[in-house]
Amino acid sequence: MAEHEESSQVSVTVRVPAKVNVQLAVGAARPDGFHDLANVFLAVGLYDEVTVTPAAELRITCTGPDAGQVPLDRTNLAARAAIILAERYGRTPDVHVHIAKDIPVAGGMAGGSADGAGALLACDTLWGTGASREELLDICAELGSDVPFSLVGGAALGTGRGEKLTPLDVGGTFHWVFARAARGLSTPAVFREFDRLAEGRTIPEPVASEPLLHALAKGDPDALAAAVSNDLQPAALSLFPELADTLAAGREAGALAALVSGSGPTTAFLVRDAESAGKVAEALTASATCRSARVAQAPAAGATAV
Ligand code: C5P
Repeated sequence: MAEHEESSQVSVTVRVPAKVNVQLAVGAARPDGFHDLANVFLAVGLYDEVTVTPAAELRITCTGPDAGQVPLDRTNLAARAAIILAERYGRTPDVHVHIAKDIPVAGGMAGGSADGAGALLACDTLWGTGASREELLDICAELGSDVPFSLVGGAALGTGRGEKLTPLDVGGTFHWVFARAARGLSTPAVFREFDRLAEGRTIPEPVASEPLLHALAKGDPDALAAAVSNDLQPAALSLFPELADTLAAGREAGALAALVSGSGPTTAFLVRDAESAGKVAEALTASATCRSARVAQAPAAGATAV
């Protein structure tokens, strides 16, 4: 179908934030291969934009710095979202899904999940299905463990495999710097490495940290910095040892806390204010221990039509 035919039709654009896990407590592997989590998600102001336009058949396009690494077939979570929603409402997923990608790919910031949630909300709006929020969240959970949070945004505790969400209060703005790594890491590979490193050890039940929830509710960056934790960090560092240099460079530049974001390899630096964020981002870029560094604020709103 010619582009002009598509563009003459109505389209819907949805903006979806990235996430950082301020706590990622990981339990032992379950019989289904997943891990029970106590996963404290915080949405951050780095966004993908997903636009859906009626088309002759489902197709995906992507632009942005990492666009070449994004699959454009039906394995893309945005395509799967359109297919699942269409099936539920007895129609064909005949849309062009365009992803304007700014969230690092395979970076531990839920970029793929953001695209799934964005495409779902955009198709739902375009098709006027009238699906309830619960139904959309249900489809999100079917798409992946992090997808419900991409829809909801803000801050939330994710339990189960991360998909069961309890919203959390956030009492202020937190300033962050995110360093993109030179390559990606596969989430299943990081969980497998977690299992390997855990062999022979008893893994405690994952529970949310009370001091961390309190720090979020107060909007206190020092208290949050003292409480952040990521049980996947040793596994990510084991697979990608150079990340230790990036973490050290951010700490030396004045970050209050430095951690791997989710399964990595993006590294996350909590800083006191916007001025400190600029300095840490500059120092990280100059350190040559990462591909690029970006500042972002949190919390950010979930998937929103623009
Ligand atoms: O849910 P999602 O498809 O995003 O998960 C990707 C992979 O990450 C899973 O196949 C699994 O290997 C791992 N994972 C896990 N435990 C979780 C979430 C994800 O082991 N709670």
